[in-house]
Amino acid sequence: MNDKAVLAPSILAADFGQLEAQCRQAAVAGAQWLHIDVMDGHFVPNISFGPIAVRALRQLKEETGVVLDVHLMIENPDRYIADFAAAGADRLTVHVETCPHLHRTLQQITTAGMLPGVTLNPATPLSTLEEVLPLVDLVLIMSVNPGFGGQSYIPHSTAKISRLRDQLDAIQSAAWLQVDGGVKVTNAAAIVAAGATSLVAGSAIFGGTRTIAENIAAFQAVISAA
Ligand code: DX5
Ligand code: ZN
Repeated sequence: MNDKAVLAPSILAADFGQLEAQCRQAAVAGAQWLHIDVMDGHFVPNISFGPIAVRALRQLKEETGVVLDVHLMIENPDRYIADFAAAGADRLTVHVETCPHLHRTLQQITTAGMLPGVTLNPATPLSTLEEVLPLVDLVLIMSVNPGFGGQSYIPHSTAKISRLRDQLDAIQSAAWLQVDGGVKVTNAAAIVAAGATSLVAGSAIFGGTRTIAENIAAFQAVISAA
């Protein structure tokens, strides 16, 4: 464990033939959250899964306390807030690009009993979040163009993380600063040093030749030393 940043393995990269078992390995190995990437094939070019994936992990959440952190990469997310709440999502993060009434959407997420998060694509400026920063429990910086795991970290993301860290500190916000996309053991320290407090990693946890536990231990060591 470390007290600098929580690790949120993205289940998109897991083997869906053994989803629960792999997520259990991650939780038992110390992953505090599980990141659930919901994609509709419209907002992003890929289709993943819906509330059923959250429901499949509910028992694991109740047994281990792992947090179910849902990232909606879908058009019109308002339509699905109640479904994800009913499925057992703890956190629900929406893209500013998909929410014409973002303030109301975040209020609806809170009313549904989940912790509201907002995220933005690499080309979307932080200024789009200015009015809602005081409302959110999490801000997610996309460090890849959303839709697929296994992409490379976009280098200019680090400066964006630092700017967001300054903005959150300036309003004394306790919101989590999450980073998602191309996060590896090799860049995790710099991402934490820039101000991130939650790291999403998919292929670096569930891919490669080492075990899930080994990958998580490697991340925890690097984060602790950051
Ligand atoms: C991309 C997703 C990310 C992705 C991370 O659209 O939001 O969470 O699954 O996967 P890696 O860590 O492999 O980039
Ligand atoms: Zn994600």
